[in-house]
Amino acid sequence: MTVILGIESSCDETSASICIDGKIINNEIASQDIHREYGGVVPELASREHQKNIVPIVEHVLNHAQIKPSDLSAIAYTRGPGLLGALLIGSSFAKAMAASLNIPLIPVHHMKAHVLAHFIEEPRPSYPFICLTVSGGHTQILRVNSATEMDILGQTKDDAVGEAFDKAAKLLGLPYPGGPMIDDLAMSRNPTAFEFTKSDIPELDYSFSGIKTSILYFLRKEINHNEKFIEENKHDLAASIQLSLIEMLMDKVKKAMVQEGISQIAIAGGVSANSGLRARMEEESKIHDWDLFIPDFQYCTDNAGMIAMSGYLLFEQNSYGDLSDSPLPRMPFA
Ligand code: KG4
Ligand code: ZN
Repeated sequence: MTVILGIESSCDETSASICIDGKIINNEIASQDIHREYGGVVPELASREHQKNIVPIVEHVLNHAQIKPSDLSAIAYTRGPGLLGALLIGSSFAKAMAASLNIPLIPVHHMKAHVLAHFIEEPRPSYPFICLTVSGGHTQILRVNSATEMDILGQTKDDAVGEAFDKAAKLLGLPYPGGPMIDDLAMSRNPTAFEFTKSDIPELDYSFSGIKTSILYFLRKEINHNEKFIEENKHDLAASIQLSLIEMLMDKVKKAMVQEGISQIAIAGGVSANSGLRARMEEESKIHDWDLFIPDFQYCTDNAGMIAMSGYLLFEQNSYGDLSDSPLPRMPFA
C-alpha cells in the first residue's frame, strides 16, 4: 500500500490530503479570511495562519483516513512557486515529519500540481494533452507530455488572468479576491453590454495589463457623467469583463490546439472554477470535437489533493527530494 500525505501552503490556503494507492481519500482546506480586509494577501499574516493551521489540519486528515504516521510511505509538499514565508511553514513541517519517520520527501511544483489534479478523478486525460493553467499568479498554455515533462507553449507577459479578474473586481468596488464575485454577478447578465480594448500579442502569449487600463478609463469616463454608474450596471459590467477575459483566453487556446494537432484540452488553476469559462470551454469542445477535462471545484483552487496526487505520481517514478531542498518562491518550471 502506498500512502502519501500531501501538504500545500504556497499562498493563503493551508491544506492537507491523504492519497492511498492513487486515490485521494480527503482534501482538507483551511482558508484565510483575514486577508479580505487588506484587499490582498499579506505575506506575514499568511505565514502566521499557516503556522496555526498546519498541525491540526494534518492530524485531521490522518485521523479521517484512519492512517497512523507510521503508515505513511512519503510526504509531498509544495516547494514553490509561492510566498517564501508561507512555503517555509509547509516545507519545514514536511521535512521534520519525514525526518522523524525516516521516509522520503517529495517536493512538488505548485503549477504542475494544478495540472496533475486531472488525475484525481475519472475521466483522466492521456498524454499528450493541452492544459490552460489559469490562476492568481500564472496564465499558461502547456503541452503536457508526462507527469514531469510539460512544455510552456505560451504564457502571460504581465498580469495573470486571475489578477486581471481581481483587479477589475477592485475597480467595481468588490472585496478581495474578486474573481469569484465577478462570476456570481455575471450570471445570466448581458456580456455584450460594454466593450473593452483587448490587447493582442504575438504567438500564444498573453497580456492582461491593457484590458485593466481600458476598464479603468471606461469607468472613470462613465462615473464623470453618472456617479452611480457602477452601482446601476454592476451585473452587466461583471458579465462584460468576464466575457472579454474568456475571449482572450480562448483565442490562444484554439490556436494552440491547431498548432499541436492535439484534441484533448484541460483547464486548471483557480480561474478554472469560473462558470463562464467552463461553459465556453464546453461549447468550443463541441464545435471542435475536443475531449474536455475540467476538475471538480475543490481541485481547481489551491488544495493539497493535487499535491498528494503529484506526490503519488512522482513516488511511482522514485523521484524524491531531500532535507537540503529549500523552498523556491520563483521555482522554475523546467
Ligand atoms: O490557483 P489559485 O487558487 O491560487 C493561485 O495559485 O493563484 O487561484 C486564485 C485565483 C484568484 O485570482 C481568484 O480570484 C481566481 O483564482 N478565481 C476565480 C474564480 N475562482 C477563483 N476567478 C474567476 N471566477 C471564479 N469563479
Ligand atoms: Zn494555485
